[in-house]
Amino acid sequence: MNILVTGGAGYIGSHTCIELLDAGFNPIVFDNLSNSSTIALDRVEEITGKKITFIRGDVRDSEALDQVFSQHDIYAVIHFAGLKAVGESVEKPIMYYDNNVSGSITLFASMERNNITRIIFSSSATVYGDPASVPITENFPTSTTNPYGGSKLIIEDVLKNIYVAHQDWNIALLRYFNPVGAHESGLIGEDPSDIPNNLMPYISGVAVGKLDKLSIFGDDYPTADGTGVRDYIHVVDLAKGHVKALQAFENKAVDNLYTVNLGTGKGYSVLEMVEAFKKASGKDIAYQITSRRAGDIACCYADPSYAKELIDWEATKGIQAMCDDTWRWQSNNPLGYK
Ligand code: NAD
Ligand code: UFG
Repeated sequence: MNILVTGGAGYIGSHTCIELLDAGFNPIVFDNLSNSSTIALDRVEEITGKKITFIRGDVRDSEALDQVFSQHDIYAVIHFAGLKAVGESVEKPIMYYDNNVSGSITLFASMERNNITRIIFSSSATVYGDPASVPITENFPTSTTNPYGGSKLIIEDVLKNIYVAHQDWNIALLRYFNPVGAHESGLIGEDPSDIPNNLMPYISGVAVGKLDKLSIFGDDYPTADGTGVRDYIHVVDLAKGHVKALQAFENKAVDNLYTVNLGTGKGYSVLEMVEAFKKASGKDIAYQITSRRAGDIACCYADPSYAKELIDWEATKGIQAMCDDTWRWQSNNPLGYK
């Protein structure tokens, strides 16, 4: 079965292609390469021994999408394509809404024209804003504090509205917590094009000597050690969640529109992550405590039980594997795919 994977050359998309191939699906990657490299796909082919069809294209290009849907018999779409840097979204809101929201609407319109009715969408725990308590369940209220999160909430709403009009569509809204780690081969991983915004690539950049020292954004949060707590999830576990979500479309007990958290249910602080990475890499991680980063929250972790109940998915990899695999990728590829 062919699966159109928009943004499939990116970090989560490339890992998902491996899991799709292993499960017998045939991923067709559609990506404009704005934040990725085809080398990732070459490596996916090396890992799996299978071929991937790659189409360079933009999800805002309806003609290109119509062409893909008419040339290939597509069973479902997994929609990763999007811009994801929170800070950049505050500076460039129009670019974010154009790429993420206009791109998604162009994609959904092309799906509708071509009778493609199954879609899995990459949403984010950012839609919970600053949660009143943890762990977070799917029925918590949603809110946003930045255009990136705003784009995710709008796209979720558009898909919910599409479902009202087309109840035969199958729509999965997957809310990812904090994806980290890399494939255990060390061949693919996260490759930020600029100075990393996120914690894990920053820590591994310091460990490999590319970056001087980590700034820890605040140690005065109401958490055990004062630093921010997040639900880090291994990208391979996350990738497997997409295969489960696809398979659940065939399960008549699952609603045609569903929303699930993909997280581990465990929270780790910044200092705990630094310690775990030191152990995995054998390197010292220099850091300094600085002021809080605007928009950050103290603590965020999932209640992942609904994903287990509904789509039979749960995370299996712990913090040690997350750090070991990140380090294998980072130390074998200090310059990423370059
Ligand atoms: P990524 O940047 O590595 O992958 C996104 C891919 O989409 C890239 O290959 C990029 O080239 C492509 N792309 C962007 N705009 C496009 C467009 N207009 N047309 C075609 N391709 C386009 O990011 P990722 O970490 O793999 O994230 C994948 C998805 O998951 C994104 O939608 C992101 O918002 C979401 N998400 C990510 C995180 C995270 O922390 N990594 C957390 C929650 C949700
Ligand atoms: N942090 C630092 N120093 C850094 C980077 C991060 O101390 O250099 C801290 C943050 O303050 C936070 C924690 O590390 O406490 C995690 O920060 P990340 O930037 O790695 O992740 P966020 O939780 O802020 O956000 C990420 C993605 C969002 C997504 C969200 C939930 O960037 O897009 O996870 O999925 F919405």
